[in-house]
Amino acid sequence: MHDDDPVKVPKDSSDHSAVSRRDFLKISSISLAVPLVAGPKMVLAAGEEVPVQGPGKVPMEFSINGKSYKAELEPRVTLLDALRDQFELTGAKRVCDRAECGACTVLMDNKTVYACSVLAIEAQHKAITTVESLMQAGKLHPVQQAFVDQDASQCGFCTPGFVVSCQAFLHTHPQPTPDEIRRGLSGNLCRCGTYAGIRQAVAQIAQKGA
Ligand code: FES
Ligand code: FES
Repeated sequence: MHDDDPVKVPKDSSDHSAVSRRDFLKISSISLAVPLVAGPKMVLAAGEEVPVQGPGKVPMEFSINGKSYKAELEPRVTLLDALRDQFELTGAKRVCDRAECGACTVLMDNKTVYACSVLAIEAQHKAITTVESLMQAGKLHPVQQAFVDQDASQCGFCTPGFVVSCQAFLHTHPQPTPDEIRRGLSGNLCRCGTYAGIRQAVAQIAQKGA
């Protein structure tokens, strides 16, 4: 089909004049441009108006480890990038950057999330907890101590994510079975293969009732 070939008009249309393909493309591009020039609001199908954010930086506020943080960020920025690059909280690691390895695990409202796959703008006004909050007054958190005791780390790159996941898992499973430990930590990967030590660390805490 060439640009000036006529576009077929539906039979029940009251206007039977043919519209060229070029005209059709011009009309379509104008229609698509309208929301961009109409103002900083988008109207949803239900008639609700929501403000358009970005693409430039917008002010954001966060609650991280019980402290308030503010920043101007583009809406496309992930929570992981905000933590690491903006707030210098580098405990959560970027490994796969696609919700597969768990190295970036943090808590959002007490639930584990992959920070690489949450937009910072969505994490506003939620309680974000990172591995940095676990050590208190120079004393390791029981999960961190158990990792040391059980030699549950080699290169250590996966360790912060595992520690956060283990802490959250033990919160909901204080007396887990070996099978529950295996399944409960399946969202985190360790390329060095220290799974046995990590499971022993969890079992150590469960035995102590920490
Ligand atoms: S870096 Fe987020 S899941 Fe791997
Ligand atoms: S200790 Fe190296 S990736 Fe887990």
